Amino acid sequence: MRTHFCGLVDEALIGQTVTLCGWADVARNLGGLVFLDLRDHEGIVQIVAEPSDAPGNAEVLAAAAHVHYEDCLRVTGTVRRRQSVNDKLRTGRVEVVATRIEVLNKAEPLPFHAHENPGEDIRLKYRYLDLRRPEMQRMMRTRIRLVQALRRWLDARGFQDIETPILTKATPEGARDFLVPARMHPGEFYALPQSPQLFKQILMMAGFDRYYQIARCFRDEALRADRQLEFTQLDMEFAWVTERDVQDTVEALIRDVFREVIGVELADPFPRMTYAEAMRRYGSDKPDLRIALELVDIAHLVKSCEFKVFTDWANHEDGRVIALRAPGGAQFSRKQLDDYAAHAAKFGAKGLAWMKVEDAGKGREGISSPIAKFLDDATLAAIVQAAGAASGDAIFFGAASYKVASDFMGALRLKLGRDLGLVEDGWKPLWVTDFPMFEWDETEGRFVALHHPFTAPAVDDIEDLRANARTAVSRGYDMVLNGNEIGGGSIRIHRSDMQSAVFELLGIGKEEAELKFGFLLEALRYGAPPHGGIAFGIDRIAALMAGTESIRDVIAFPKTTTAQCPMTGAPSPIPDEQLAEVHVQVRPKA
Ligand code: AMO
Ligand code: AMP
Repeated sequence: MRTHFCGLVDEALIGQTVTLCGWADVARNLGGLVFLDLRDHEGIVQIVAEPSDAPGNAEVLAAAAHVHYEDCLRVTGTVRRRQSVNDKLRTGRVEVVATRIEVLNKAEPLPFHAHENPGEDIRLKYRYLDLRRPEMQRMMRTRIRLVQALRRWLDARGFQDIETPILTKATPEGARDFLVPARMHPGEFYALPQSPQLFKQILMMAGFDRYYQIARCFRDEALRADRQLEFTQLDMEFAWVTERDVQDTVEALIRDVFREVIGVELADPFPRMTYAEAMRRYGSDKPDLRIALELVDIAHLVKSCEFKVFTDWANHEDGRVIALRAPGGAQFSRKQLDDYAAHAAKFGAKGLAWMKVEDAGKGREGISSPIAKFLDDATLAAIVQAAGAASGDAIFFGAASYKVASDFMGALRLKLGRDLGLVEDGWKPLWVTDFPMFEWDETEGRFVALHHPFTAPAVDDIEDLRANARTAVSRGYDMVLNGNEIGGGSIRIHRSDMQSAVFELLGIGKEEAELKFGFLLEALRYGAPPHGGIAFGIDRIAALMAGTESIRDVIAFPKTTTAQCPMTGAPSPIPDEQLAEVHVQVRPKA
C-alpha cells in the first residue's frame, strides 16, 4: 500500500514520488491551500494540497478540505523542500505535495484528541486511540527495545529461554493466587503462577544450568503505580553459583541494556548496602539515593527527657527515635506541617513532632517547637547538632517501634525530597543484601519469609538457624534503582532437610509441606545442585527508562487501579451454564 513511512520522509527523497499511509493529524485549511499532518508509527510528515493544473487536482483539493482528525488516508505525492523548516521534526525540512488523496476509512468525531491527555479511564477505554499518541508510542517502544536488548544479551551468553506452565499449582510469593477451575476435576483448581520460581529451580535440577524467561506473573494484590495484577519478569536462574556470581552477571546485564536502550552509564560496580544499613539511614529497603537526606537516631539523647513518647520508645528494646532535617523547613506553614503529619500517618505514625530552627545561634530562643518545653537546653542543642540543622531548617521526629518509625520517617524523607526539590538528577542503582530471613507477623503469630520460603539462610546449620531464627540473615538480594525495587533474588535452599526446616519455622507443618511442596522436597533429594537467581520487573525498568511514574504507561493493556479493563469490561459475570460446566457456584454477595 505504501512506499515509505511518514515519519521517515527526508531530504534524500526530494523530487521523488512517494505513497504514504497514516492518520490525519492537524489540518490547516488556508482557503484553497490545505496543510495536513499525516502520522504513522514513525512520526509525522506535512502534506500540502495546493491548486495546480495537474490532472486530478480538483479531487485532491476537495478530499483535503474534508479531512477530519484520525481519518485513515493514503496519500501519493512529490517530496519537495519546505519553505519554513521545522527543526523539531525529523521530516521538518520537507513536505509532500499531494497528487492523490484516498480516504481509506473515515473516523467519527473522537472521544478525545491525539494531542490531549484525558483521564486514565477514558484513555484505557479507548486504549487504541491513546496508544496512537506519539508519547505513548515512544514509551511502548522503549519497552520493546528493552526486551530486545535483554534477549540479545542473554541469548549471546548461552542462557536458555524455557517456558513454564501458566496453569499450575500455587507458588507462594506473598500475594493471593488467581485460581482457574479445573473442568475435568470437579472442585479442583489450577493457580496462575505468581512467578516461575519452583519451575526454574527444578530446571536447574534438570541440568539446564542457565535459564531465562520473559515471564508473565499473576498476583492478586492491591494495585499501585508500580504494581499490576499481571506483570512481566525477566526471570533468571543459574546452577553452581554463589550470590556474587549471580549479582556480577546481572549487574553487567543491567548496565549494558541501560547503555544500549537509553544511553545511560550506570555506576560500575553498583554500591552495596545491607538491609540493616538501608533501614537505619533511609528507613527503606529500597532507598532512593538521589536524595541526600538521612535519618538520624537520637534515642540516646532522649532516654530521660520529659517527652513521654520519646522516652518510652528510646527505652524500648525494639524502639526507635528518629530525627530528620528538612532544609529550609523553618518556613513551613501550619498547614504544611499538618500535611506532613498526615502523610506520615499513612505509613503508621501516631504523631509527627517538629522543631523549627529559626536561629541556630540563639539556643532555645531561636527554636520554635511544641515539644521544646519537654527538653532541657543541653538536649535541645544536642538534637539540633545531631540532626545537622542550621538556621532556617526544620527537624521532624518519629518515635515508634523500629519498623514503624523507619517506615514512616522513610516515607517522609521521600516526600520532603520531592517537595523541596532535593532529588538529584541521574541514576542511583544499588544492591541491598543481608535481608532478615524471617519477619515476625504479629497478626498471624508466626514467622513469614521476607523473600520467599525457598531462599537459603546465610548459615548452613539447621540447628543454628532454629536457635537464631529471629536474627537469621538470608542469602537474598534486591537490585534497587532510584528508589524502585527493580529486581529481587537469592541463593536457594538446595537440600531437602534445610527446606523442610525452613517450612517448619514458617509454620508450614509436615503434612501441608508435603501437600503443597512435596514435589520440590522430593526433587531436592536427587542431587539438586547449589543454585540461585533473580527476577527483574520489566514493567518497572521500562517505566524508569521511559521516564514515567506509572508502569501502566509501558503496558499496552493494563488494568486500572480498581483492577478493571475499561476497554473490554473485564472482569465480567459468567452465565450460569458456563459456571456449571466448571463446577462453580457463585455465592451471593455478603
Ligand atoms: P519478587 O516477588 O521480588 O521475586 O519479584 C521480582 C520483581 O518483579 C517486580 N514485581 C512487580 N512488578 C509489577 N507488578 C507487581 N505486582 C510486581 N511484583 C513484583 C519487581 C520485583 O523486584 N521468584 C522471585 C524472584 C527470585 O527469587 O528469583 C520473585 O518473583 O520489580
Ligand atoms: P502530644 O503531646 O500528643 O500533643 O504530642 C506533641 C507532639 O508530638 C505533636 O506534634 C505530635 O504530633 C508529636 N507526636 C506524638 N506521637 C509521636 C510519635 N510517636 N512520634 C513522633 N511524634 C509524635
